[in-house]
Amino acid sequence: MTEAPRIRPGQAADLKAMANIEKRAAINPWSLSQFLESSLRDSDACLVLEAADGELLGFAVYQCVLDEATLLNIAVAPAQQGLGHGARLLRYLLDRLAQRGVMRLLLEVRCGNHSAISLYRRLGFVDDGRRPDYYPVPGGREDALLMSRELERIT
Ligand SMILES: CC(C)(COP(=O)(O)OP(=O)(O)OC[C@H]1O[C@@H](n2cnc3c(N)ncnc32)[C@H](O)[C@@H]1OP(=O)(O)O)[C@@H](O)C(=O)NCCC(=O)NCCS
Repeated sequence: MTEAPRIRPGQAADLKAMANIEKRAAINPWSLSQFLESSLRDSDACLVLEAADGELLGFAVYQCVLDEATLLNIAVAPAQQGLGHGARLLRYLLDRLAQRGVMRLLLEVRCGNHSAISLYRRLGFVDDGRRPDYYPVPGGREDALLMSRELERIT
């Protein structure tokens, strides 16, 4: 039986593999320096999903300010998408944030990113508004959809 991938905090040694997933998965990929700035900002800013053989399958980068957090980036390697890894990462993050007293998780997503929006809605995120023409895409620009999810305090 194959061992299930595990989720753990990301660290400096993961940055290259994260940037590599991002390059293959995202339309406007973050640069390595964006990962450096955002993922290692503090010890609680990044989660990675790691297969039993050590291969990185995905990651989530977030920022907490007082009782509010923002999901800055999430990606799963293209060959691994549609298998529930994104949902697993996000559920883990929601639990982790609730445990540290965060009350709300915010995010922005490109309006045409249907698989991401479908995942967020399934996990209880609601629409808060739009930022017109926010994302550059091949051949033009697309609105950003602003979404959020309230968290229950876990004591
Ligand atoms: C968004 C993302 C992280 C989701 O990860 P994932 O592992 O595919 O997520 P899941 O398997 O849990 O499911 C996500 C949803 O997309 C669907 N989906 C994902 N990949 C798919 C594919 N290749 N074909 C068909 N459906 C797909 C799933 O069926 C699921 O739909 P549902 O919620 O209606 O059941 C991943 O698609 C990704 O890395 N995208 C590129 C980066 C990106 O856009 N990040 C979001 C930034 S806001």
